[in-house]
Amino acid sequence: MDERATWATRIGFILAAAGSAVGLGNIWRFPFLTGESGGAAFLVVYLLLVVGVGVPVLLVEFVIGRRSNRNPIGAFERLGHPGWKAAGAVGAIAAFIIFSYYSVVGGWVIQYVVASFTGGYGADAEAFFLSTASGTNAIAYHGLFMATVAGIVALGIRNGLEKAATVMVPTVVVLLVGLAGYGATLDGAGAAYSYYLAPDLSTIVGDAVSILPAAAGQAFYTLSLGMGIMITYASYIGEDRNLLQDAGIIVVLDTAIALLAGLVVFPFLFTQGIEPGEGGAGSIFISLAGAFQQLPGGTLLGGVFFLMLLVAALTSAFSIFEVVVSYVTDTFDVDRVPTALGMAAVLFVVGIPTALDLTYLDAYDLFANNILLILSGLLLSIFIGWVYAGEAIEELGKGRTSDGRIEAVWLTTLRYVVPIVLAITLALSVRDYIGFLQESFF
Ligand code: TRP
Repeated sequence: MDERATWATRIGFILAAAGSAVGLGNIWRFPFLTGESGGAAFLVVYLLLVVGVGVPVLLVEFVIGRRSNRNPIGAFERLGHPGWKAAGAVGAIAAFIIFSYYSVVGGWVIQYVVASFTGGYGADAEAFFLSTASGTNAIAYHGLFMATVAGIVALGIRNGLEKAATVMVPTVVVLLVGLAGYGATLDGAGAAYSYYLAPDLSTIVGDAVSILPAAAGQAFYTLSLGMGIMITYASYIGEDRNLLQDAGIIVVLDTAIALLAGLVVFPFLFTQGIEPGEGGAGSIFISLAGAFQQLPGGTLLGGVFFLMLLVAALTSAFSIFEVVVSYVTDTFDVDRVPTALGMAAVLFVVGIPTALDLTYLDAYDLFANNILLILSGLLLSIFIGWVYAGEAIEELGKGRTSDGRIEAVWLTTLRYVVPIVLAITLALSVRDYIGFLQESFF
């Protein structure tokens, strides 16, 4: 059991962690939340949270993972604080819920890829989306996505994850840059850029209460934080690696790709005269399919876009499987293959309601991201800030030379800034969620 695999190469770890971070969160969820929450004002709050909360919490997960060499639940026992297992468990539940509907959205993407190469999305992009998103198709393609992920994970860490990530992440970047360049030539580009990139301070202040939960949830979601993924990935890295540097690369890459996705999505929306943020979870699919349908060479371009989205979704999906597979194989005497297949079957069933009704998708999404991830981040930062600070600082110092200044800033942030921001966020999120449930189900 102590014979754990390690990453074959440094770049392998970074690309796999970045592959987990970069996914539907950047390209589907980030633009639609930005559109729903007012554009540039949301962007500013989101960026502040990525730097001020996301980076410190990512380092927390890296430190816990490398120090313990364990899955997120076993890790706390290894570190001598079994009571904190609860923090790992909250994250594991969040990851479970997220993955169940992530696979449903992954199934939508497969349907768009197929449609792109076989005659397009029909005359009415909205009707096409609705037929894609719920019902028998949605369930069948959810199953296909899940089966693909389980198959790849069953092959094992080096063969499966590392090779896939080495190819997939750079591909995503190249394709997005191309599409953003194309978007810049469209008529709506000017209006799109000012909506997306020119923040207005009074809007930020006025809407802070509604922006904060959405922006914080997104920051955690997109960086794959609060669900044990980064703990698991870091449990496979050696002590000679510089965690700070690796975290920096991953955050910059993830954020750059989200920003780039906005640069792709908004010019297309504005050119078609579509309000950003109309249509919730479907808005990216509806607006882009509508745009691709009308543009010269559009469905081919659409095929490229959705294929790229599928690739990004797959690398994120691998990461969550890896958490569960590592937990089960660390804890019980079971092999990777049956574990991966069994988990796929369970997640498939849990995701079915979200493939039948988009209201369930929202209900899963908001609960997992805006509540559970925030709670998990809050617990993790308190654990490292107040319970495990000395050891954590020592762990962060490995693999680099340091005068201790960065560690001091990190610790202060974890003790005060992160818990205060996340406690406020959590209170707002719970209030919003109760409102959402009353509106949608009662
Ligand atoms: N970080 C991923 C993205 O941006 C999303 C993600 C986070 C995820 N946690 C996950 C996907 C768990 C599947 C399972 O798309």
